[in-house]
Amino acid sequence: MNVIISNIVLLLIFSTTHVKSKILRGELVTNQNWAFLARFCFLTEKGKFHYDFVVKENSNETSNVNLLLYYDAPNQWPSVYPSDKTCEQKKSILSLDHGQIVPLSASLARISGCEQLDDPWAKLRCTSYREFRSSRPRWWFIVLADCSSKSGLNVSYDMSLTNGEPGSFWREHFSADEFCK
Ligand SMILES: *[C@@H]1O[C@H](CO)[C@@H](O)[C@H](O)[C@H]1NC(C)=O
Ligand SMILES: *[C@@H]1O[C@H](CO)[C@@H](O)[C@H](O)[C@H]1NC(C)=O
Repeated sequence: MNVIISNIVLLLIFSTTHVKSKILRGELVTNQNWAFLARFCFLTEKGKFHYDFVVKENSNETSNVNLLLYYDAPNQWPSVYPSDKTCEQKKSILSLDHGQIVPLSASLARISGCEQLDDPWAKLRCTSYREFRSSRPRWWFIVLADCSSKSGLNVSYDMSLTNGEPGSFWREHFSADEFCK
């Protein structure tokens, strides 16, 4: 079990009209190595998640941060949160093949959009996006985790979560949250 000693999460939420999209910017600084960042209701149509992460590390410890994407099925998010599971156990329920684990690593730049930075603090910058399609509206839960880290996480993030293309009446005027249970 993780013990929370300090958990400072600064969260700025700028919602455009009716949560059709959500923009989140802030710093995730925590001594935990598995941390929830955001949830969003993606509709069945093309949902898009853009991210820009800067991973910081104050030692020579190599960071092994993964972006983890859970959805609302019983064997997914509800099985890990809340729970006594370890970071590895919470990660192991996801499949790398299904794209639910995105290793934030410069050696996997094609997948993660990461590049090494020449900065003593900021080691990595990762910019990319993911698309979400499912058979019904679903909540997706975005987590950052570095199971090998002893010092926790220090990541600044800039993310946007969007449903479909602008212009549609439904998508323009109703919160996607209304479609998710
Ligand atoms: C990190 O690496 C540098 C150069 O390799 C070394 O001088 C420094 O002592 C190391 N720092 C830690 C905390 O291990
Ligand atoms: C997080 O990173 C910033 C550098 O961007 C640094 O100033 C700060 O001390 C770090 N915080 C922790 C808890 O390591």
